[in-house]
Amino acid sequence: MADRRKLAAGNWKMNGTAAALSEVTALAGSQGEARCEILLCPPATLVERMAREAEGTNIAVGGQDCHAAESGAHTGDISARMLKDAGATYVITGHSERRADHGESDEIVRHKTEAAWAEGLTVIVCVGETLSEREASNTIDIIKGQLAGSIPDQATGHNLVVAYEPVWAIGTGKVPTTDQIGEVHDVIRSQLERRFGPGVGRSVRLLYGGSVKAANAAEIFAVENVDGALVGGASLKADDFGGIIAAL
Ligand code: G3P
Repeated sequence: MADRRKLAAGNWKMNGTAAALSEVTALAGSQGEARCEILLCPPATLVERMAREAEGTNIAVGGQDCHAAESGAHTGDISARMLKDAGATYVITGHSERRADHGESDEIVRHKTEAAWAEGLTVIVCVGETLSEREASNTIDIIKGQLAGSIPDQATGHNLVVAYEPVWAIGTGKVPTTDQIGEVHDVIRSQLERRFGPGVGRSVRLLYGGSVKAANAAEIFAVENVDGALVGGASLKADDFGGIIAAL
Protein backbone atom coordinates (compact mmCIF):
# COMPACT_ATOMS: atom_id res chain seq x y z
CA MET A 1 0.00 0.00 0.00
CA ALA A 2 1.26 3.48 -0.84
CA ASP A 3 2.59 5.49 2.05
CA ARG A 4 0.00 8.23 2.31
CA ARG A 5 0.53 10.96 4.87
CA LYS A 6 -2.65 11.51 6.90
CA LEU A 7 -4.31 14.90 6.48
CA ALA A 8 -6.53 16.76 8.94
CA ALA A 9 -8.14 19.61 6.99
CA GLY A 10 -10.41 22.25 8.47
CA ASN A 11 -12.89 24.20 6.36
CA TRP A 12 -14.01 27.29 8.23
CA LYS A 13 -16.62 28.12 5.57
CA MET A 14 -18.06 31.65 6.08
CA ASN A 15 -16.92 31.88 9.67
CA GLY A 16 -14.23 33.90 11.37
CA THR A 17 -12.81 37.38 11.61
CA ALA A 18 -9.36 38.44 12.79
CA ALA A 19 -10.23 37.49 16.37
CA ALA A 20 -10.45 33.85 15.33
CA LEU A 21 -6.75 33.77 14.44
CA SER A 22 -6.04 33.09 18.12
CA GLU A 23 -7.32 29.56 17.39
CA VAL A 24 -4.44 29.09 14.95
CA THR A 25 -1.93 30.11 17.59
CA ALA A 26 -3.56 27.75 20.08
CA LEU A 27 -3.63 24.90 17.58
CA ALA A 28 0.00 25.41 16.60
CA GLY A 29 0.98 25.42 20.25
CA SER A 30 -0.73 22.12 20.92
CA GLN A 31 0.15 20.30 17.70
CA GLY A 32 3.89 20.73 17.36
CA GLU A 33 4.37 16.97 17.45
CA ALA A 34 1.40 15.98 15.27
CA ARG A 35 2.24 13.09 12.96
CA CYS A 36 -0.27 14.11 10.33
CA GLU A 37 -0.42 17.10 8.04
CA ILE A 38 -2.69 19.90 9.28
CA LEU A 39 -4.50 22.33 6.99
CA LEU A 40 -6.89 25.19 7.70
CA CYS A 41 -9.02 26.81 4.98
CA PRO A 42 -10.35 30.11 6.35
CA PRO A 43 -12.52 32.60 4.47
CA ALA A 44 -10.59 34.48 1.77
CA THR A 45 -10.32 37.58 3.95
CA LEU A 46 -8.19 35.67 6.45
CA VAL A 47 -5.94 33.62 4.16
CA GLU A 48 -3.02 36.03 4.19
CA ARG A 49 -3.17 36.80 7.91
CA MET A 50 -3.57 33.14 8.79
CA ALA A 51 -0.64 32.21 6.57
CA ARG A 52 1.50 34.74 8.48
CA GLU A 53 0.22 33.45 11.80
CA ALA A 54 1.00 29.87 10.77
CA GLU A 55 4.49 30.62 9.47
CA GLY A 56 7.05 28.35 11.07
CA THR A 57 4.35 25.99 12.40
CA ASN A 58 3.15 22.69 10.97
CA ILE A 59 -0.16 24.22 9.83
CA ALA A 60 -0.74 24.82 6.11
CA VAL A 61 -3.32 27.30 4.83
CA GLY A 62 -5.72 26.88 1.93
CA GLY A 63 -8.55 28.61 0.10
CA GLN A 64 -12.13 27.37 0.00
CA ASP A 65 -12.62 28.02 -3.70
CA CYS A 66 -10.96 29.76 -6.64
CA HIS A 67 -12.03 31.04 -10.04
CA ALA A 68 -11.00 29.15 -13.17
CA ALA A 69 -9.56 32.28 -14.76
CA GLU A 70 -6.22 33.83 -13.87
CA SER A 71 -7.66 37.35 -13.63
CA GLY A 72 -10.35 39.51 -15.19
CA ALA A 73 -13.87 40.86 -14.86
CA HIS A 74 -15.26 38.48 -12.22
CA THR A 75 -16.53 40.68 -9.41
CA GLY A 76 -16.23 39.08 -6.00
CA ASP A 77 -14.13 36.13 -7.15
CA ILE A 78 -10.53 35.28 -6.38
CA SER A 79 -8.03 33.42 -8.53
CA ALA A 80 -5.68 30.60 -7.66
CA ARG A 81 -2.79 32.98 -8.22
CA MET A 82 -4.22 35.37 -5.61
CA LEU A 83 -4.54 32.52 -3.12
CA LYS A 84 -0.98 31.48 -3.75
CA ASP A 85 0.18 35.06 -3.44
CA ALA A 86 -1.59 35.27 -0.06
CA GLY A 87 0.32 32.23 1.21
CA ALA A 88 -2.06 29.36 0.46
CA THR A 89 -0.71 25.99 -0.63
CA TYR A 90 -4.07 24.22 -0.93
CA VAL A 91 -7.54 25.01 -2.27
CA ILE A 92 -10.87 23.19 -2.02
CA THR A 93 -12.92 22.83 -5.21
CA GLY A 94 -16.36 21.36 -5.78
CA HIS A 95 -17.60 21.64 -2.21
CA SER A 96 -21.30 20.73 -2.23
CA GLU A 97 -22.14 24.18 -0.88
CA ARG A 98 -20.47 25.74 -3.95
CA ARG A 99 -22.17 23.21 -6.23
CA ALA A 100 -25.59 24.02 -4.66
CA ASP A 101 -25.28 27.75 -3.91
CA HIS A 102 -23.42 28.72 -7.07
CA GLY A 103 -24.57 26.06 -9.52
CA GLU A 104 -21.06 24.71 -10.03
CA SER A 105 -21.03 21.78 -12.43
CA ASP A 106 -18.38 19.08 -12.65
CA GLU A 107 -16.96 20.91 -15.65
CA ILE A 108 -16.56 24.15 -13.71
CA VAL A 109 -14.94 22.26 -10.84
CA ARG A 110 -12.53 20.65 -13.29
CA HIS A 111 -11.54 24.02 -14.75
CA LYS A 112 -11.00 25.48 -11.29
CA THR A 113 -8.87 22.49 -10.38
CA GLU A 114 -6.77 22.97 -13.52
CA ALA A 115 -6.32 26.64 -12.69
CA ALA A 116 -5.17 25.78 -9.18
CA TRP A 117 -2.73 23.19 -10.48
CA ALA A 118 -1.28 25.75 -12.86
CA GLU A 119 -0.32 27.75 -9.76
CA GLY A 120 1.13 24.73 -7.97
CA LEU A 121 -1.65 24.44 -5.39
CA THR A 122 -2.77 21.06 -4.06
CA VAL A 123 -6.50 20.69 -4.67
CA ILE A 124 -9.05 18.96 -2.47
CA VAL A 125 -11.81 18.00 -4.90
CA CYS A 126 -15.09 17.27 -3.10
CA VAL A 127 -17.68 14.73 -4.17
CA GLY A 128 -20.80 13.46 -2.42
CA GLU A 129 -24.39 12.41 -2.89
CA THR A 130 -27.57 14.05 -1.60
CA LEU A 131 -29.99 12.17 0.62
CA SER A 132 -32.44 11.56 -2.21
CA GLU A 133 -29.65 10.20 -4.39
CA ARG A 134 -28.64 7.80 -1.62
CA GLU A 135 -32.22 6.75 -1.01
CA ALA A 136 -32.59 6.04 -4.71
CA SER A 137 -29.47 3.80 -4.51
CA ASN A 138 -27.61 6.13 -6.85
CA THR A 139 -24.68 6.95 -4.56
CA ILE A 140 -22.00 5.03 -6.43
CA ASP A 141 -23.06 6.28 -9.86
CA ILE A 142 -23.13 9.87 -8.60
CA ILE A 143 -19.66 9.55 -7.08
CA LYS A 144 -18.23 7.96 -10.23
CA GLY A 145 -19.74 10.71 -12.38
CA GLN A 146 -18.43 13.50 -10.16
CA LEU A 147 -14.95 11.98 -10.10
CA ALA A 148 -14.84 11.55 -13.86
CA GLY A 149 -16.15 15.06 -14.52
CA SER A 150 -14.40 17.07 -11.80
CA ILE A 151 -10.84 15.73 -11.86
CA PRO A 152 -8.57 16.78 -14.74
CA ASP A 153 -6.25 14.31 -16.46
CA GLN A 154 -3.03 15.54 -14.85
CA ALA A 155 -3.71 14.18 -11.35
CA THR A 156 -0.84 13.05 -9.15
CA GLY A 157 -0.56 11.96 -5.54
CA HIS A 158 0.86 15.38 -4.78
CA ASN A 159 -1.56 17.73 -6.53
CA LEU A 160 -4.82 15.93 -5.73
CA VAL A 161 -6.74 15.01 -2.59
CA VAL A 162 -10.33 13.75 -2.88
CA ALA A 163 -12.87 14.43 -0.14
CA TYR A 164 -16.03 12.33 0.13
CA GLU A 165 -18.70 14.47 1.77
CA PRO A 166 -22.23 13.05 1.71
CA VAL A 167 -24.38 16.19 1.50
CA TRP A 168 -26.83 14.83 4.08
CA ALA A 169 -24.05 14.41 6.65
CA ILE A 170 -22.72 17.98 6.43
CA GLY A 171 -23.49 19.99 9.55
CA THR A 172 -26.32 17.64 10.48
CA GLY A 173 -24.73 15.40 13.09
CA LYS A 174 -25.71 12.45 10.87
CA VAL A 175 -22.77 10.26 9.94
CA PRO A 176 -22.81 7.33 7.50
CA THR A 177 -21.95 3.94 8.94
CA THR A 178 -18.33 2.92 8.65
CA ASP A 179 -19.44 0.36 6.06
CA GLN A 180 -21.05 3.10 3.97
CA ILE A 181 -17.91 5.26 4.20
CA GLY A 182 -15.71 2.27 3.38
CA GLU A 183 -17.80 1.33 0.35
CA VAL A 184 -17.56 4.80 -1.20
CA HIS A 185 -13.86 5.24 -0.39
CA ASP A 186 -13.09 1.85 -1.98
CA VAL A 187 -14.96 2.93 -5.11
CA ILE A 188 -13.05 6.23 -5.23
CA ARG A 189 -9.74 4.42 -4.83
CA SER A 190 -10.50 1.92 -7.57
CA GLN A 191 -11.75 4.63 -9.93
CA LEU A 192 -8.54 6.61 -9.41
CA GLU A 193 -6.41 3.51 -9.95
CA ARG A 194 -8.28 2.62 -13.10
CA ARG A 195 -8.01 6.11 -14.58
CA PHE A 196 -4.55 7.21 -13.46
CA GLY A 197 -2.82 3.87 -12.94
CA PRO A 198 -2.05 2.10 -9.67
CA GLY A 199 0.91 4.33 -8.72
CA VAL A 200 -1.03 7.59 -8.81
CA GLY A 201 -4.32 5.99 -7.80
CA ARG A 202 -2.88 4.57 -4.61
CA SER A 203 -1.02 7.72 -3.64
CA VAL A 204 -3.95 10.18 -3.72
CA ARG A 205 -5.26 10.84 -0.23
CA LEU A 206 -8.97 10.34 0.41
CA LEU A 207 -10.68 12.36 3.14
CA TYR A 208 -14.05 11.79 4.70
CA GLY A 209 -16.12 14.90 5.57
CA GLY A 210 -19.48 15.36 7.26
CA SER A 211 -20.10 15.80 11.00
CA VAL A 212 -16.64 14.58 12.01
CA LYS A 213 -16.02 15.23 15.71
CA ALA A 214 -13.39 14.15 18.21
CA ALA A 215 -15.89 11.56 19.48
CA ASN A 216 -16.34 9.75 16.13
CA ALA A 217 -12.98 10.45 14.48
CA ALA A 218 -11.11 7.32 15.58
CA GLU A 219 -13.83 5.03 14.26
CA ILE A 220 -13.90 6.83 10.90
CA PHE A 221 -10.10 6.93 10.58
CA ALA A 222 -9.95 3.16 11.13
CA VAL A 223 -11.83 2.61 7.85
CA GLU A 224 -9.63 1.43 5.00
CA ASN A 225 -8.87 4.12 2.41
CA VAL A 226 -9.74 6.94 4.80
CA ASP A 227 -6.59 9.07 4.95
CA GLY A 228 -7.96 11.90 7.04
CA ALA A 229 -10.89 14.26 7.30
CA LEU A 230 -12.29 17.48 5.93
CA VAL A 231 -13.89 19.08 8.97
CA GLY A 232 -16.30 21.99 9.11
CA GLY A 233 -17.81 23.04 12.43
CA ALA A 234 -15.38 21.12 14.60
CA SER A 235 -12.37 22.83 12.99
CA LEU A 236 -13.27 26.29 14.28
CA LYS A 237 -11.95 25.75 17.78
CA ALA A 238 -8.41 24.55 18.43
CA ASP A 239 -9.55 22.19 21.18
CA ASP A 240 -12.16 20.47 19.03
CA PHE A 241 -9.90 20.19 15.99
CA GLY A 242 -7.02 19.06 18.20
CA GLY A 243 -9.18 16.18 19.41
CA ILE A 244 -9.73 15.05 15.82
CA ILE A 245 -6.05 15.42 14.94
CA ALA A 246 -5.17 13.28 17.94
CA ALA A 247 -7.25 10.43 16.53
CA LEU A 248 -5.32 10.37 13.23
O1 G3P B 1 -16.01 20.76 4.24
C1 G3P B 1 -16.35 20.27 5.49
C2 G3P B 1 -17.77 20.05 5.66
O2 G3P B 1 -18.63 20.25 4.64
C3 G3P B 1 -18.23 19.23 6.79
O3 G3P B 1 -18.87 20.11 7.64
O4 G3P B 1 -19.61 20.92 9.82
O5 G3P B 1 -20.32 18.66 9.00
O6 G3P B 1 -17.98 19.03 9.71
P1 G3P B 1 -19.22 19.66 9.13
